[in-house]
Order: sequence, then structure tokens, then C-alpha cells
Amino acid sequence: MSSEVAGYRAQADSIREAFERKFERFARFLNKRINGENVVDVTEFNLSLEEAQAELRALSDLETWYVGRKSQLSALKKLIGKVSPEERSGFGQYLLLTQIAGTDKIAEVESNLQSYIWKKRSERERVDVTLPGRRPRRGHLHPITQLRQRIEDIFVSMGYAVEDGPEVETDFYNFTALNIPELHPARSPQDTFYTTGGLSLRSQTSTVQVHAMQRRRPPLRVIAPGRVFRRDTPDATHNPMFFQVEGLLVERGVQMGHLKGTLSEFVRRLFGAGTRTRFRPSYFPFTEPSMEADYSCFKCNGAGCRLCKGSGWIELGGSGMVHPNVLRAARINPDEFSGFAFGLGIDRMCGLMYELDDIRLLFENDVRFLEQF
Ligand code: DAH
Repeated sequence: MSSEVAGYRAQADSIREAFERKFERFARFLNKRINGENVVDVTEFNLSLEEAQAELRALSDLETWYVGRKSQLSALKKLIGKVSPEERSGFGQYLLLTQIAGTDKIAEVESNLQSYIWKKRSERERVDVTLPGRRPRRGHLHPITQLRQRIEDIFVSMGYAVEDGPEVETDFYNFTALNIPELHPARSPQDTFYTTGGLSLRSQTSTVQVHAMQRRRPPLRVIAPGRVFRRDTPDATHNPMFFQVEGLLVERGVQMGHLKGTLSEFVRRLFGAGTRTRFRPSYFPFTEPSMEADYSCFKCNGAGCRLCKGSGWIELGGSGMVHPNVLRAARINPDEFSGFAFGLGIDRMCGLMYELDDIRLLFENDVRFLEQF
């Protein structure tokens, strides 16, 4: 052997020795030979998934160091062509065997680490089908909607239909048909919001009365829950947008006793059988006679408390016998039919029932508030 090739071989040997030293940390991942058989028990590796992945990366670095394009071994391989033809194949073979001695071990460790990682992963991702499921967080209806539905249920059970009307109204339905003639003080622009086209946002659900009579013709019983608008500055008890429920009954021979009985029954069903009512004379353009209805406080049962401001009574809303002019606006003969009507505020009632300090909370849509109902 020429001294030149002997020197190259010595270089290859020292590269291999360096490899063996670097490989020592991976030796425990090699197969074991037991009774002439290759055996491996990856459970003995005792690594976390992350540690095993780190080992695999370190192994790949070692492979690059040993046989990568820029490795010392590759540099030696480039010399094969320079060696004399007689020595060339012997030297080539020597380098190849040196290389294989390392890559075989690397391949074995890589395969064992891979199966260990696969095993760890499937352990971690195993699904325990016997665990109880995670419940999705359930929402619920807004407190105003809940109360509106309770009110609807009570009236539907008394034979009323639920009617709907537009929130943007013409002058006729807003005022004229409700017996509020031009120049009447109730038309004051403070009352609502006007559009430039002569329309306005309804300031009360009473506007639905005439729509309902035109649509259904008497005899009829309807309630009309809905949104109304007023030019109010928001404060703890006012909002420029709020909710009302209107009630209207038009039949033959209806008189004030029917109205009082209906409202009394309504509050008994909503607040309990012991609830009492009282009626005070009042004025509304679209009813004659008109009255305000109060009910005994559901909290103190009439004794007087903070909620009813010590009076024992809570205001329900306005009501009265439908004015003949309103019946006429819907082309109903007031000599043949009579009716009663009432209107109450849902938000105000909601605020009292939940003892809210500020009814604006109802429209802020803060879930921390809404969740409580
Ligand atoms: N619309 C009135 C209001 O907003 C309440 C009202 C009073 C409604 C008398 C009626 C009624 O139907 O007859 O204050």
C-alpha cells in the first residue's frame, strides 16, 4: 500500500473513532442481541415525547456531520479518483465500509426513536370515550323578551291574537286616527323623531289599534307588543327607545267592567292571585273615559316599600274605552261596536321585577348583566 493511501485510511479511521464517541449517547436506542435475535423494547427509553423528538433532531445532526456533503468523510471520497488505479477500488471499498458502519447504526436508532415517538403521541391523543362531554355554554332570551312572552301567553289564553305594526308611521296612524287633530298639543315635536318625508317613529304602540281594526274587522281581541321611540334624554328611568304592549278589544256591548276585569285578571296571572288593582281617572285623546291602572306592589303586597315608593301601588299603564272617533277612523260604527284599550311599558315592568337601579342596563348587552336572568 502506498504511504499516501495509508495516510488516507488513517484519516478515515480517526473520523470513524470520532463518530463512535459522538454516537455513544445514542447507543441505548440500538437493538439488543438476545439469543442471536435483534430485540428492542422502546418502552425502556423513558423519555418524554419532546425529549425523544430532540434526540431525533440530534441524531440527524450527527448524520449530517458524518456523511453530509461537507463532512470530512465526503472530502476523503473525493480523493478516490486521484488514487492510483491499482489501489483505487480497495480504498473506495474501505471508505464505503467506514460509512456504512455509521449509517447502519443511525438508521437503526432513527427507526426505534420514530416508533417510540409514534407510541407516545398516540398515548397522548387517546380519547377517553367514557369521560362526560363538555357542555356548550347556553344563552337565553333577553329579560325583556322573556317578560314579553309571559305577557303574550296570558293574553293569548284569554283569546287575544298577537298583532304587529310598523315602527315608522304616517301622520294618519300616529295622530289623526288616534283622535289627535292637527294643532293638538300631543303632536308637539318633543314627542318623537320625525323623518324629512313627513313620517315619524311611533311614540306608542297605540298606533297599531287602527291597523288592527282595518285588518281584522270587529269583533277582535289583539295585543301588540313592540318598540317605541321618544325624544327623551337617557337616564336611569328613561330611554329614547323602549317597549310597550298595547291591548285592544272591540266587540258588541263592551263596557268599562270588562276592561277592569281584564286588567285585574292579567296582573293576578302575572304577579299572583292576591294582586289587587285600582283605577284612577285620566286623559288620553284616543279613549273616553280614560283611566290609569295600578296594581298592589308584588314585593310588599301593598304595605309600602322602597320599590313602590312607600305607596303600596305600582303603575300598570293607561287604558280606557276606545273613543268613537278612533272607531270611525277604522270605519267601524260606534253605535254598533264598542271597545277598550290599554297600554303598558315592558321595560319599566322588567326594571321593577328585577329591581334594576338603571333600566339602561337592559340595552347595553353586557353578558355579565344579562347572564343573571
Ligand atoms: N299609549 C299610552 C302611553 O304611551 C298608553 C295608553 C293609554 C294606551 C290609554 C292605551 C290607552 O291603549 O287606551 O302612555
